[in-house]
Amino acid sequence: MSTPRPTLTHPSLSIICHEHRALSAMLRSIVLLLREHRRRNTLPDFDALQAMLFYVDEFPEKLHHPKESRLLFPKLRGHDAHTDAVLDRLDRDHAHGEQAIRELEHALLGFRTMSGTRQCEARRADFETLMKKYAEFYLDHMHVEETEILPLAQSVLSDDDWAELDAAFLLNRDPLTGHQADEAYKPLFARIVGALRHSGNFGTMLEALASAALPTGSPPPPPGHPAGGEGS
Ligand SMILES: [Fe+2]
Ligand SMILES: [Fe+2]
Repeated sequence: MSTPRPTLTHPSLSIICHEHRALSAMLRSIVLLLREHRRRNTLPDFDALQAMLFYVDEFPEKLHHPKESRLLFPKLRGHDAHTDAVLDRLDRDHAHGEQAIRELEHALLGFRTMSGTRQCEARRADFETLMKKYAEFYLDHMHVEETEILPLAQSVLSDDDWAELDAAFLLNRDPLTGHQADEAYKPLFARIVGALRHSGNFGTMLEALASAALPTGSPPPPPGHPAGGEGS
């Protein structure tokens, strides 16, 4: 039986859950993309995979997790021993993320650099294994936050706490959560959209990326269009 998600009555809770959806979709897309290329016995678009890992590093790792560890978690510490133990584990996860993403980037570089040699399949397997482990690790992490920490925050924090959190959380947001990306990031998302479009139907992820990469109201460009991000 699935655990019910918290009712989102504060902007900061809503932002956390939307950013979780964006990160989940990106992680699942990378794993699916790798599986699809393995099934076809083809090499992936390495530039697109690099762009996807860059997104995970640039938004979830550098913006989302610090907002939780620095702003939300301290307000919940001391509530009870179980909560403190859960927060310790989540803070350790956040601290581990930086190193984990570097290992992933190195494994991808190894796969790319050695793809023309007899090491190609071993390097592919190394990257797939690390990527799957990273995705499972963060999907479980987000599940714990949504089932244990957010409901507790909802029930114990004061109006003053929420006013402070909401102001801080609204300051920096992941562009894959329903608002326009900064111009500088549009080529990044366009590159990812292009790779996903040519690798099967990734549904929600593709729509989220397309709306972040393109002007509001514009349909995604057809395959082959420069904004589709192909080029490899
Ligand atoms: Fe987190
Ligand atoms: Fe989170």
